[in-house]
Parts: sequence; structure tokens; C-alpha cells
Amino acid sequence: MKISGNTVLITGGASGIGLSIARVFLENMNTVIVCGRNADKLDLVKKQYLDIHTIQCDVANPVEATQMLDHLRTNFPSLNILVNNAGIQHQYDFLRDENALKKIDEEIDINFKAVARLTKIVLPNLVKASEAAIINVSSFLGIVPKSSAPIYCATKAALHAFSKSLRYQLQNTPVRVFEIITPLVDTDMTRGRESDAGKMSPEILAKEVIRNMKMENYEIKPGRTKLVLLLNRIFPSLIQKAIGKR
Ligand SMILES: NC(=O)c1ccc[n+]([C@@H]2O[C@H](COP(=O)([O-])OP(=O)(O)OC[C@H]3O[C@@H](n4cnc5c(N)ncnc54)[C@H](OP(=O)(O)O)[C@@H]3O)[C@@H](O)[C@H]2O)c1
Repeated sequence: MKISGNTVLITGGASGIGLSIARVFLENMNTVIVCGRNADKLDLVKKQYLDIHTIQCDVANPVEATQMLDHLRTNFPSLNILVNNAGIQHQYDFLRDENALKKIDEEIDINFKAVARLTKIVLPNLVKASEAAIINVSSFLGIVPKSSAPIYCATKAALHAFSKSLRYQLQNTPVRVFEIITPLVDTDMTRGRESDAGKMSPEILAKEVIRNMKMENYEIKPGRTKLVLLLNRIFPSLIQKAIGKR
């Protein structure tokens, strides 16, 4: 698909993977809008990148999400790409954590329900475009889960299935459904969590995304994702044991 001349909304685009994707879309002559909850982070983006538009919005709040999309319909009627990137990860002991119920709701609301809801609300606009895309940021942990973040892994598995089903449903429309099956990336989310050695840079990941979009490669498997999924097919118990214990 064309990678210039689009109008792109990136949720959670004020940092990490979302910001790198925003920058690479900007470099490729697209109109870029990012949203997030933290006003200070959005102000910083606005100061650094005058051409990136920012909107404060908690995508897990249905009222705020609907208001944001109403605003975009009026001010950016050419919106044709939604990047569902906003996400959080809680690591906790499912048996013992006293705040687990709150964490379960937060992760499911942000990582999955918000994605399904935003997609549903924006689709009537996207189908009117000559070319459009939904880009979901999932994780290889949705296919090979680790033990420390059971709900996070489950939400990414849900996103994987959702991306596939939606791709089938929309195949006769102008809307293409991409999924980034993300490897370990060096961002705030993973800071201090794993050894830095194996982490992909968000800038390289974003370039991979654009390259795969150009080639209409809908399941994007950057960096180590390809190898992990291959090993998972050939030696499933070995790879699941290695990742499962993290
Ligand atoms: N880093 C990795 O290794 C890795 C691997 C696989 C998948 N991923 C996925 O990649 C995506 C981006 O994560 P990241 O690594 O770039 O982490 P990050 O730097 O923490 O970025 C996450 C962004 O999401 C925003 N956000 C969180 N909740 C939100 C909400 N309710 N509404 C709007 N924005 C919200 C955050 O901003 P505010 O707090 O200001 O809202 C933040 O800018 C996530 O979906 C994550 O699961 C990451």
C-alpha cells in the first residue's frame, strides 16, 4: 500500500514504539496525529516535532475515545490509518497479588477492549477511503506466553486472533489489517526488565513496519520474532520452556 499521503492516528504515540512509528510516517510525508494520557509527554512531542498533531485521550475511556474520533472526523476527515499501539504490561503473581483484580481490568481495557472499540468506531470512515489500514501492535508473547504477565500475554493473543478475523472480514473493502508481532524492544515498557542485549531499537522496528506495509505483508514479524516463531514450530517444548519461565 502507499506509504505517503496518508492521515495516521497512532494511539500511545508519545513514546517508545508509537513515537518511532510516528516519526517514520512523518519522514514519509504523511499527516500524523498521536494520542496519549500524559499531557507533559504530548507537549514534549509537540515541541520536538512541530508537524505532529497531539490529542490527550485515554483510549480505554469510551467517552474520551468517542470524543477524540469525533474531533478527528471534523478536523482530519482524510484519516485513513489507525495504529493501535497504546498498551501496558503488569507483571504479577496471579495467585498472591492483592491488586490483581484492578490490573486485570486495566490490561484488558487498554490492550484489547480499547482496540476493538476504536476500530469499530473508525471503520465507517476508513471504508470510504481509496486505501486504508488498521495496524495492531501485538507481541510474540501472544503466541509463546511468559509466566510473569499472564493477562498481558492473553490480551496480545486476543489481538492476534482479532487481527486475523478482521482481515478476513474486510478483504473486500479498501481496509488492510496489519499486525506487528513485536519482539522485545528497547522502550520504557521493558526498561530494567530484561537484558538490553537482545532488544530491538524502536527506530529499526518502525522502518521494518513501513517496509512491510509497502510489500502488503500483513503479518509483520520484525527482528527475533521470526526466529522465535520458527523455533516454536520446530522445537515447541524447548522454546516454550525458555520463554515460559521469564
Ligand atoms: N517494548 C516491547 O518489548 C514490546 C514488545 C511487544 C509488544 N509491545 C507493545 O508495543 C506497544 C507500545 O509499547 P512500548 O514498548 O512503546 O511502551 P511505552 O513506551 O510504555 O509506550 C506505551 C504508550 O502507550 C500509551 N498509553 C498507555 N495506556 C494508554 C491509554 N489508556 N490511552 C492512551 N495511551 C495509552 C502510553 O502513554 P500514556 O501513559 O501517556 O498514556 C505510552 O506512550 C504496546 O502495545 C506494547 O504492548 C512492546
